[in-house]
Amino acid sequence: MANKLNILVVAGDGIGPEVTREAVRVLQSVAEAGDYDFAFRNEPIGGVAIKAHGSPLPDTTLKAALDSDAVLLGAVGSNEFNALPPSQRPEAGLLKIRAELGGFANLRPSFAWPGLSQNSPLRAEVVEGADILFVRELLGGLYFGAPREWDKHKNEAWNTMRYTHDEVVRVTKVAFDLAGKRRKKVTSVDKANVLEVSQMWRATVTEVAQQYPDVALEHQYVDAMAMHIMNQPRNYDVVLTENLFGDILSDEAGVITGSLGMLPSATIGGTVNLYEPVHGSAPDIAGKGIANPLGAILTAAMLLRYSAGLQEEAASIESAVKQVVADGYRKADLARGDKSAKVSSTTEMGSKVREVLVGNRASAAR
Ligand code: IPM
Ligand code: MN
Repeated sequence: MANKLNILVVAGDGIGPEVTREAVRVLQSVAEAGDYDFAFRNEPIGGVAIKAHGSPLPDTTLKAALDSDAVLLGAVGSNEFNALPPSQRPEAGLLKIRAELGGFANLRPSFAWPGLSQNSPLRAEVVEGADILFVRELLGGLYFGAPREWDKHKNEAWNTMRYTHDEVVRVTKVAFDLAGKRRKKVTSVDKANVLEVSQMWRATVTEVAQQYPDVALEHQYVDAMAMHIMNQPRNYDVVLTENLFGDILSDEAGVITGSLGMLPSATIGGTVNLYEPVHGSAPDIAGKGIANPLGAILTAAMLLRYSAGLQEEAASIESAVKQVVADGYRKADLARGDKSAKVSSTTEMGSKVREVLVGNRASAAR
């Protein structure tokens, strides 16, 4: 493992700064305990960057990202810019940093937390034991395909869903490699009954699967899959999707956990890995100190796992989060209807995680 880790923090908009602060504090306490040298640098992205520098991804931010060992992102997006075309919005900064860093495989784990199944709108017996890892292709499809335009004279608009064979191969390999270390099943999601892109996707995934005889492959249409993951979430191990389908299904899978605020993600395969919680900037609750920092904290754990090789430290953050949740601490998003929940603020939640981390370490040393 690299003893020194340079982390670029791009906290962004809305609740991004609040939740990222807690994630950074957790990383700092891991560094202190393990005598690791984690250096943090902050740069703007999204709406805050548009305001300060006139661009959602200023060159200084991009350069700092490319020079770092890992990028930790909060959230991007603000209602102020709703009237702008996609290319000038805060989100354009996020899409650009994704493209420039080159990570094409976005890993989004979603599982039922012990002790939290009561909080899912799904019945506990449906969600208990569910453990899905979405592998969302992040650099292709409708998000990046050209041509794209809203032609106001013609009163017509178009986007292009495009994939090359190689783009499908590389993300498929990531999905199968990960499935090989899990329950050895890949479910590939497409719309091959309608779309040529999906037909190529399916043929390519099937071809790559030949190299992984121990991993089972199944194909599902995206519409059916949207239903299956709610009906039988336990049926799925690794779920491989193109960009937009993965965007949609991973939000839906937040229902299994009970809250989008709990979901982390890691984007791997490029020059520098990018770590961001699945949730957005949530402008309606920003600045109130009530945002759930656990998605960001779990994202920090993924950073340690995939950019620093610190498996044990990553696992210790995850078990600290589990313990805090099991102890009854909830953010408002999860406390719904649960009278015994101890609802706490963003910073209290972060402190609890650190307390448990430090406590667990002390008892392990004894
Ligand atoms: C996500 C977000 C982004 C996406 C937006 C903010 C561009 O929804 O990370 O899931 O669509 O990829
Ligand atoms: Mn999304």
